[in-house]
Amino acid sequence: MSDLSRRELLASAAAAAAAAMAPARLLAATDDWRVDLRAPVAGGNGSMLGVPFEKRDVVRIAIVGTGLRGRSVLNELLAIEGVQITALADVVKDKAERAAAMCTRAGKPAPALFTEGERDFERLVRRDDIDFVYTATPWQWHTPVMRAALKAGKHCGSEVPIAMSVDECWELVELSEQAQRHCLLMENCCYGQSELTVLRMVREGVFGTLLHAEAAYLHDLRAILFENKDEGLWRRAPHTQRNANFYPTHGLGPVAQYLGVHRGDRFDYMVSMSSGEAGLTEWRAAKEPKDSAKWSEKYVAGDMNSSLIRTVQGRTILLQHDVVNPRPYSRLNNLQGSKAIFNDYPPRVYIEGTPGGERWTPLADLKGKYEHPLWAALSDRAKNAGHGGMDFVMAYRLVQCLKQGLAPDFDVYDAVAWSVPFPLSEQSMKKGSAPIKFPDFTRGAWKNATAPQGPSTTATW
Ligand SMILES: NC(=O)c1ccc[n+]([C@@H]2O[C@H](COP(=O)([O-])OP(=O)(O)OC[C@H]3O[C@@H](n4cnc5c(N)ncnc54)[C@H](O)[C@@H]3O)[C@@H](O)[C@H]2O)c1
Repeated sequence: MSDLSRRELLASAAAAAAAAMAPARLLAATDDWRVDLRAPVAGGNGSMLGVPFEKRDVVRIAIVGTGLRGRSVLNELLAIEGVQITALADVVKDKAERAAAMCTRAGKPAPALFTEGERDFERLVRRDDIDFVYTATPWQWHTPVMRAALKAGKHCGSEVPIAMSVDECWELVELSEQAQRHCLLMENCCYGQSELTVLRMVREGVFGTLLHAEAAYLHDLRAILFENKDEGLWRRAPHTQRNANFYPTHGLGPVAQYLGVHRGDRFDYMVSMSSGEAGLTEWRAAKEPKDSAKWSEKYVAGDMNSSLIRTVQGRTILLQHDVVNPRPYSRLNNLQGSKAIFNDYPPRVYIEGTPGGERWTPLADLKGKYEHPLWAALSDRAKNAGHGGMDFVMAYRLVQCLKQGLAPDFDVYDAVAWSVPFPLSEQSMKKGSAPIKFPDFTRGAWKNATAPQGPSTTATW
């Protein structure tokens, strides 16, 4: 049974119970979609919207998965004052040891290592010297690591996507609320220089009424997907199992930030369709030796997925995914308002009334006026960091929130809403591209949440 249909059955039973016992706030939360109905959580667990971290001088971090991404983020963390890496886990001992050596080379104490198999992170999360557990494992391990961390009472953050099913999404929401611990998506693209400049322009009203955005993950990964190491060991598998928009969050996170999703708006429903498949099959034919085990694989995911999301406030979002065809990299990252338009790759804007008429202006020309203060403060330190500097800015900002006792820029509701198009796109396509409702993971709290998402565009750092 699909995630949603099972939930539908549970929901109708829960609905009757909830109607009888739920406070008005919760009843109001269940306005438009029976599938979203959830009985109030026993014990009155509260929303994690706007909940601050506790203050601390030193931030003690554990990393589960010390492959390419885990070590890259570790490198950013080691450059930040007051960070201590207390534990590392990887199923490959050599990778954990390489990461540990990075810590000692940086003059930090050697972290404890957990390399005794796929579930050794369950031992790691029980340590009492960890403030935050970060995972950079293959996708199928993200939810299990987050689940274990929350059950052990730890704040945690995952690489993208945080979950691969609707049930996993709900489970993370409920565990985060029960534990009163944050469960975050480590969405570095929300901290890109262009993205934060555009966010400031949005907040200052340059775009007028926001109407439409475009988000994507368009990246030729064919060579990486066919390697016999690193992501080649696991990232082809989803293409043999599911037809879906696998990697929605790099595009959708920044766009959700522009639109204030969960701050007065939310994703309402989506439709999805995929092209046929050719990229992996043709690459294999051209590059793989005939005796390769990869010849037994059948690729069931369409190459180019195009989904459309409509928000409750009536905004539309195009969401695309293609990692198996030749192309320059793009996350689209486009925004249309009633007074201006932004298109990325390369970053450029047109603001109505600009002298010279309907012509693009490079975003860089507006840097003096609209640069985000976080980038103004960190651009020198971020210069050589991962993904054009955004990885350092993300890591710095997380540590800052943990140290200063601030609420994180994004929360568990954002993490799951940005990840859930993976299973929802699959469900839509199974039903002939039918519209599929997004669950309201905030249970209505999005309507009253006003504190802006993301790093403040007016604060000074
Ligand atoms: N945000 C970004 O810009 C970005 C960039 C690259 C990758 N990623 C994401 O980061 C994650 C990791 O990707 P990667 O490129 O580092 O892949 P990788 O294969 O290089 O690393 C994954 C690591 O996890 C380890 N591992 C596997 N199962 C484990 C388990 N049960 N417990 C502990 N360790 C386990 C592997 O041994 C490996 O070292 C993926 O989710 C990927 O999508 C994000």
